[in-house]
Amino acid sequence: MLNKIKKPFLILAPMDDVTDTVFRQVIADIAPPDIFFTEFTNVDGLQSPGRVRVQTKFKHTKKEQPLFAQIWGIDPEKYQLTAEQIVNGEFGEFAGVDINMGCPVKDVIKNGACSALINDRELAAKIIKATKDGLQGKLPISIKTRLGFNEVDYTWHEFLLKQGIDVLTVHGRTKLEMSKVPANWDHINEVRKLRDKISPSTLIVGNGDVKDRSHGLELAKKYKLDGIMIGRGIFADPYVFSKDTPWQRMTPKQKLDLYEKHVKLYAKTWQGTKPVQILNKFCKIYVNNFEGASEVREKLMAAKSTDELLELIQKIKT
Ligand SMILES: Cc1cc2nc3c(=O)[nH]c(=O)nc-3n(C[C@H](O)[C@H](O)[C@H](O)COP(=O)(O)O)c2cc1C
Repeated sequence: MLNKIKKPFLILAPMDDVTDTVFRQVIADIAPPDIFFTEFTNVDGLQSPGRVRVQTKFKHTKKEQPLFAQIWGIDPEKYQLTAEQIVNGEFGEFAGVDINMGCPVKDVIKNGACSALINDRELAAKIIKATKDGLQGKLPISIKTRLGFNEVDYTWHEFLLKQGIDVLTVHGRTKLEMSKVPANWDHINEVRKLRDKISPSTLIVGNGDVKDRSHGLELAKKYKLDGIMIGRGIFADPYVFSKDTPWQRMTPKQKLDLYEKHVKLYAKTWQGTKPVQILNKFCKIYVNNFEGASEVREKLMAAKSTDELLELIQKIKT
């Protein structure tokens, strides 16, 4: 699948509680990336009686393709089982599996998961091997990580590149830096050079502070990267992956139409199982950059149900 995609390719970054199936469907309709990722999904949860609830993070439609399933956890056996189930189609159609080795959130790393694996290479190697065993070469394996834990640490990337992985996404910050400093693309470039030496067939994706498509393509060219991943850029412009970004020219009605589409799809998809307040972060994405936008947002964010929210949107539009 990966060799069919034109390089440099653009990926919509996984963002927990943001890039669910609803948001991905809206983006797929207006300005799709080349690859989607799911939110990070815990392998222990997937292999537990709570599976039904956890696997909502894997929910997707045919529109959101190609789609990589992003997983995290600390138990190699659960990774293997999950990878086998993904390959067997138990969760629908996926184009690849990505392991989160970059999340810096305290609660996640205190158990040794995600970016904590940077300091536990023995376990990281077991997790990668178990996942590869589960995938049986039928789907590509990808890793998303950072520049290092407390400091930039190329020995980590060297180690990863020796594990026979298909894709390596590097977010240009250390775990310690969280999102507090600008992403450092010179360091991403050094990882790309290591890739050239150690594992030429592994695709390298750069991530961090990319504003839009043309910015991403510029960085890919400058640093000779195979792909670019964009996350928060989509908060400022839902058309971030389009060649011509029409967002600044769109009328308030057109922006509200898009929010209405999102709310309708959210109501239909989640059927009241998720609170209406989650939609407020999307309200900020769609309802902005026009006169009176903040007053409109204030009204919409007070809605107590999706029905009330849809009524309010209708009223404001007319
Ligand atoms: C709200 C939010 C949720 C995130 N959730 C995830 C996640 O589930 N998995 C992951 O690998 N990264 C996650 N990230 C990190 C992003 O994928 C990305 O690496 C980071 O935001 C830097 O890229 P950007 O500057 O383009 O946003 C999250 C980021 C944000 C802002």
